Amino acid sequence: MTAPVPESSAVPRHVAVIMDGNGRWAKARGLPRIAGHRKGLERVRELVRACGEAGVQYLTLFAFSSENWRRPEQEVRLLMELFLNALDREVAKLHENGVRFRMIGDVRGLGEAIAERIRRAEALTRDNRGLTLIIAANYGGRWDIARAAAELARGAVAGAIDPDAITPESLEPYLSLSEVPEPDLFIRSGGEQRISNFVLWQLAYTELYFTLVLWPDFDRAQFEQALASYASRQRRFGLTGEQVEAARRA
Ligand code: FPP
Repeated sequence: MTAPVPESSAVPRHVAVIMDGNGRWAKARGLPRIAGHRKGLERVRELVRACGEAGVQYLTLFAFSSENWRRPEQEVRLLMELFLNALDREVAKLHENGVRFRMIGDVRGLGEAIAERIRRAEALTRDNRGLTLIIAANYGGRWDIARAAAELARGAVAGAIDPDAITPESLEPYLSLSEVPEPDLFIRSGGEQRISNFVLWQLAYTELYFTLVLWPDFDRAQFEQALASYASRQRRFGLTGEQVEAARRA
C-alpha cells in the first residue's frame, strides 16, 4: 500500500517569516531602531509582490510577538504608530492587487484604533482571490494552542467532547490558522536559529531556512535564494525517501 503523502511542489504554497534584525541594521548606521522597522516595512512590500509573482498563496509575517511588549515603551509606541499608518496607507493598494488581508493574534490588545482598522481591512479584502497576507501581531504560538485547548475543555465540560477521544485533529479547528494550509517554508532573517514562539503547531513539518541577512537587507534576491533552497529539499513527512518517490509517481 502506498502511504499518503501531503501535496508539495517546488514553490511553497505557504511561507511564514520572522523578520528579525531591524534594530541591528539601524544601530549599525547610527540610526534609531524605528528606522530599521521602517526599512523593514519596505521589504514587506517587496516580499508581498515577490510572493504574488512566484505563485505563493499564503504569506504569514510575525510583526509583533506577545513578548515584544517588554521592549522600551518608546519603541513599542512607534511600532504601533507604524502599524497604524501602514494599515491606513497600504490596505487600498493591497485590495487593488487582489490581496486578502488577515490578522492573527490577540487583536484587541493592540488598541481599539488598530483593531477597528484590521476589522475593516479584513472585511474589505475578504473575497479577494490573490495572495493571502496574514499578519501575526500580539501573537504567540503557545497562546494560540492554549486558546484552542480552552475551547476543547469548554466542549468537554459541556459534555459535547469526550476527553479520551481527543486527537491532534480535534484541536486543529480551534487554531488561528485552521483554514490555511500549514507553512511549507519558514524563513528567519537576522542570524538567530530559533522559532521564538511563532506558529508552533503548524511548523511541525515545515522546511526551516535561516539567514544571517538582517531583515532590512532581505531583498528579492534573498527571497529567491530561500525559494531555491526549498525547491532543492525532499519533504518526507516521516516516510522514507523511497515511499515519497513512489507516492509522487503514483
Ligand atoms: C524584529 O527586529 C522586528 C520586529 C519586532 C518588528 C517587525 C516589523 C516590521 C518589519 C515593520 C512593519 C511590518 C508590518 C507587517 C506592518 P528586531 O527589532 O528584533 O531587530 P534586532 O534583533 O536587530 O534588535
